[in-house]
Amino acid sequence: MNTLDTIATRRSIRKFKPDPIPDEALTAILTASIQAPSSKNRQPWRFVVVQGDKHTEMVRVMRQGIANAKARGDDPGSSEHTADVMEQVPLTVFVFNPFGMHPWLARSIEQNFYDVVNIQSIGAAIQNMVLAAQDLGIGSLWICDVFEAYEELRQWLGEESQMIAAVSFGYADERPAARPRKPIKQVARWV
Ligand SMILES: Cc1cc2nc3c(=O)[nH]c(=O)nc-3n(C[C@H](O)[C@H](O)[C@H](O)COP(=O)(O)O)c2cc1C
Repeated sequence: MNTLDTIATRRSIRKFKPDPIPDEALTAILTASIQAPSSKNRQPWRFVVVQGDKHTEMVRVMRQGIANAKARGDDPGSSEHTADVMEQVPLTVFVFNPFGMHPWLARSIEQNFYDVVNIQSIGAAIQNMVLAAQDLGIGSLWICDVFEAYEELRQWLGEESQMIAAVSFGYADERPAARPRKPIKQVARWV
């Protein structure tokens, strides 16, 4: 597939087959990810791969985190539905920023800029992952609903750094139509 076709045909997938992802495909996805550009070539990404029995356990931890959040009175948003989707997939990659601060903590302006550039770099790395997966015929879902179980998941994963997102991968069991996009005229202007 050429790059523009890969970009145009990628979809967020929320219905997956249980088939495992071959190791070579995961290696290709991670290899694509680390080829992303990054500010000062800092490569501010760290990945934690979760699969097999550990994946089942991870979703349980996420559900517990969501339940804890609800008990505190927080609105769980779409996180319960996302946990249902994650339950179907064989593999999830968590993405961390080792240079980032905990999102609940106040930060200096300098740290704020540092976070902004590092998170942009990590966004590029995640986009490379989902496009590489698409090219390999593998579906993906970029997930920030893991924030509803932020502390629980970080602790279970043994990570102290800033959690940025999770990306679930599996073979798609649906072919969603393209989701609407705002027209270019609405989001870009020429000077
Ligand atoms: C930063 C980010 C966080 C997202 N978090 C979630 C999520 O937690 N759960 C979910 O179902 N989809 C999530 N999505 C997927 C978006 O809902 C999806 O990209 C958007 O609706 C457009 O659909 P498309 O990806 O099929 O083009 C996320 C996407 C991004 C980029």
